[in-house]
Amino acid sequence: MAEPTVLITGACGLLGAHLMIALGRDREVVGVDRHPWWGDESRHIIQGDLESPEFLRRLATDVHPGIVIHCAAMTTVDACELDPERAEASNAGVTRELIRAMPPTCRMVYISTDGVFQGDRPFWGEDDPPIPCTAYGRSKLHGEHVVAQATTNHLVIRTNFYGWSSGRKRTMGQWLYRSLKTHEPITLFDDVFFTPIYVVDLVERLIRLLAPPHQGIVHIAGAERLSKYAFGMLLADVAGVPADGVRRGTVEDAALVASRPKDTSLACKRFERLTGIPVPGSRMGLGRFIADCGRPLSARFEQVESLRNG
Ligand SMILES: NC(=O)c1ccc[n+]([C@@H]2O[C@H](COP(=O)([O-])OP(=O)(O)OC[C@H]3O[C@@H](n4cnc5c(N)ncnc54)[C@H](OP(=O)(O)O)[C@@H]3O)[C@@H](O)[C@H]2O)c1
Repeated sequence: MAEPTVLITGACGLLGAHLMIALGRDREVVGVDRHPWWGDESRHIIQGDLESPEFLRRLATDVHPGIVIHCAAMTTVDACELDPERAEASNAGVTRELIRAMPPTCRMVYISTDGVFQGDRPFWGEDDPPIPCTAYGRSKLHGEHVVAQATTNHLVIRTNFYGWSSGRKRTMGQWLYRSLKTHEPITLFDDVFFTPIYVVDLVERLIRLLAPPHQGIVHIAGAERLSKYAFGMLLADVAGVPADGVRRGTVEDAALVASRPKDTSLACKRFERLTGIPVPGSRMGLGRFIADCGRPLSARFEQVESLRNG
C-alpha cells in the first residue's frame, strides 16, 4: 500500500526544510510556509499563512494528507514574551484550526520544546509535569494539549536542536560558529543547561516514529547535558578554532526579555526503548554539524536510508 502523503508546516524553517529533504526521497511530501523553498532538491511547497482559515481549508482539500508534521510556530522566545497573545494564537490557535481543517483520520505530529519545563533540575522525562516559565513555553504547551485532546493518533516530540538553515533567520548554531570563526567577543552562560541535538540527527530519529503505533509524548534530544558555555567550547574544539573571544557569563546578568529556565535537559529513554536507537553524543553531533557547513541540504542525508531500514 502507498505511504500516506505527509504535509509539513514550517517547511522552509530549520527543521521543516531538513524533513522535506529526508522524507521527500521516497514518499509524497508537501510543504507549507510563508516563505519560498530554498533547498537544492526541488520540493512541492504551497506558500501561504496558516492563520488564514480559507487557506487552511484549501490546503486540506488540495493535499488530503495522512500525516501532518506541524513545525510552524512563533519560535523567538523574547518576541513571544513581548506579545503573549500573538504567541498563543500562532502556537496553540493555529494548531487547533489546523487539526480541525485536516481529515479526521490524519495523524498529527506536533513539534514541541524543552521550554515547557520550569528548569530547576536536570533530565526531564515525558511524565514529569511541565511548568513553563515563558510565554513561548506556555503557548507551546497549550499546543500540546490541543493536539492530545483532538486526536489519539498523535505524537508530541519535545526537543532542542541546532543546524544550518536558509540564513534568513540566524540559528543558535550558525551564530556561535560564525562568532568563533571571526573571534567576535561573545558571552555564553555557564548556568543554563540543555541537551542539544544536530537537526540531521533529530530528523533521522523522528522518521522512525512517524508510523503508528507510536503515540503520545516522546523526547528526542542529545545524550549529554551541557551548559551553553560548554557547548560553545566543545564546538570550538571540534571545529579546531580558538575560543579566544568567548567569555563565561551568567544568565542573571543578561538583559533578556524572557527569564530563561536554567535546566531544560531532556531524558530520552522512551525514544531509545521504542526504537532501539541511541540518541547521539555531543561531539558526534557537532562533528556532523561542522562537516555539513556549506554543504547543500540534500548532501546532509546519506545515512537516512540505513537508519529507516535498520
Ligand atoms: N530551534 C530549536 O532549537 C527548537 C527547540 C525546540 C522546539 N522547537 C520547535 O520546532 C519547530 C520548528 O522550529 P524551527 O527552529 O525549525 O523554526 P523556524 O526555523 O522558525 O521555522 C518555522 C517556519 O514556519 C513559518 N511559519 C510560522 N508561522 C507560520 C504561519 N502561520 N503560516 C505559515 N508559515 C509559518 C516561519 O515563518 P516566519 O519565520 O516568518 O515566522 C518559518 O519559516 C517549532 O515548532 C519550534 O517551536 C525548535
